[in-house]
Amino acid sequence: MKKRFAVILAAGQGTRMKSTLYKVLHPILGRPMIQHVISALKPLQLDSLITVAGHGSEQVMEEVGKESKFVIQEEQLGTAHAVMQAEQLLKNKDGITLVVCGDTPLISTETYRKLFEHHELTNAKATILTTTMEDPTGYGRIVRNENGDVARIVEHKDATEEEKEITEVNTGTYCFDNKALFAALKRVNNDNAQQEYYLPDVIEILKAEGETISAYVTKDAEETVGINDRVALAHAANILKKRINEAHLRNGVTIMDPDHTYIGPEVQLERDVTIYPGSMILGNSFIAEGATIGPHSEIEDSTIGKHTVIRQSVVINSRIGNNTNVGPFAHIRPESDVGENVRIGNFVEVKKSSIEDESKVSHLSYIGDAKIGRNVNVGCGSITVNFDGNGKHETVVEDDTFIGCNSNLIAPVTVKRGSFIAAGSTITEDVPEDTLAIARTRQTNKDGYFKKEK
Ligand code: UD1
Ligand code: CA
Repeated sequence: MKKRFAVILAAGQGTRMKSTLYKVLHPILGRPMIQHVISALKPLQLDSLITVAGHGSEQVMEEVGKESKFVIQEEQLGTAHAVMQAEQLLKNKDGITLVVCGDTPLISTETYRKLFEHHELTNAKATILTTTMEDPTGYGRIVRNENGDVARIVEHKDATEEEKEITEVNTGTYCFDNKALFAALKRVNNDNAQQEYYLPDVIEILKAEGETISAYVTKDAEETVGINDRVALAHAANILKKRINEAHLRNGVTIMDPDHTYIGPEVQLERDVTIYPGSMILGNSFIAEGATIGPHSEIEDSTIGKHTVIRQSVVINSRIGNNTNVGPFAHIRPESDVGENVRIGNFVEVKKSSIEDESKVSHLSYIGDAKIGRNVNVGCGSITVNFDGNGKHETVVEDDTFIGCNSNLIAPVTVKRGSFIAAGSTITEDVPEDTLAIARTRQTNKDGYFKKEK
């Protein structure tokens, strides 16, 4: 097989997004646009992947990391000029170069694969991925000659009224013979409406040299949407959301209102998971069999156990065990580990804490930097006082303890196994095993106090 390279064009600032964030970093279902492109390319096992990033786009490089090599396009002089920046890394190499725009995040691995196949099968020097769009406004149009062969691509802004009628568009994705590409790029000029060096001009140049140009027409126009503004961004998110949700529905997940359920592309859901409206499950999340999420829950980078219920709650970067109940209105913050058969009730916040099996934190508590053992009951309104104004400290509550309502556990502090904290206590010292701790002032009743007044 011939060597395969790919170049992702991602240097454009994305002026039409009207944003301080680089265009390719705008998230779609929680994942930056460029990551969608990279994850679609990954299974192709390319010999080299190069991203063309703009000046000052450290964030893009950070996001992509080791997945790709980088070249910098200091000034954005057009897509042909962008590809030229990769010459140093690709020149004189034999093989096929796939050029992809960083702003067409929905193109699938399968489509890229078919484009490569078509390119090799037709023995072309260049193959364009095209599609037919009901509304082709803004896209480059595919101009074909009398034999139906591709003659050239004309940009919307340069097109005549007649050419604007063409509904077959350039998706901005191409396979090129690597050497032919870089030779032709040298001959592209910027004599056009935008005064830019257009990559699509390479087609006409190769054609004039008598080379074979081919087009692979995909029927899936939705997949090729190019994101130039936030209208297109919302449109793309909708398309992706629908696809992801339908795949889960087919796999045995109940989604009550798929229009208002947002599941990220990397999320794994087992069968018989039920998702109620208004829920977002993003990042690297895993929801086990029979779990119920929502209504209105937000789960990110978290694992949720079998038959666990998360109602009206937020869970971020945490693990929740089987048969556990969270919410309504709980907040599980990063690095928390909640066991099996646990109850985290209303208005409870858990941060960087572990809560072992069979324990209950049922109402109005803050548990931060704590280790709560098994079968512990944290009474209503009890909190860990983990911050002393300077640093955070740890609270340890061992197995089989009972923390009475409205207690303060002033960290660092340990409550040993089998102890009982009286309601309203402020615990500043460790409590030994099997001990009753009371740390509050005694009540004084003044006999007949109000009778005397009267
Ligand atoms: C481009 C194509 C158009 C096609 C459409 C598909 C050109 C001239 N036009 O138009 O035929 O129908 O994509 O979506 O290629 N970029 C750089 N450096 C630059 C300019 C652009 O890296 O100097 C990058 C952008 O970040 C973007 C991609 O190239 O990811 C495409 O550029 P964009 O300006 O969005 O081109 P379109 O007008 O959409
Ligand atoms: Ca674009």
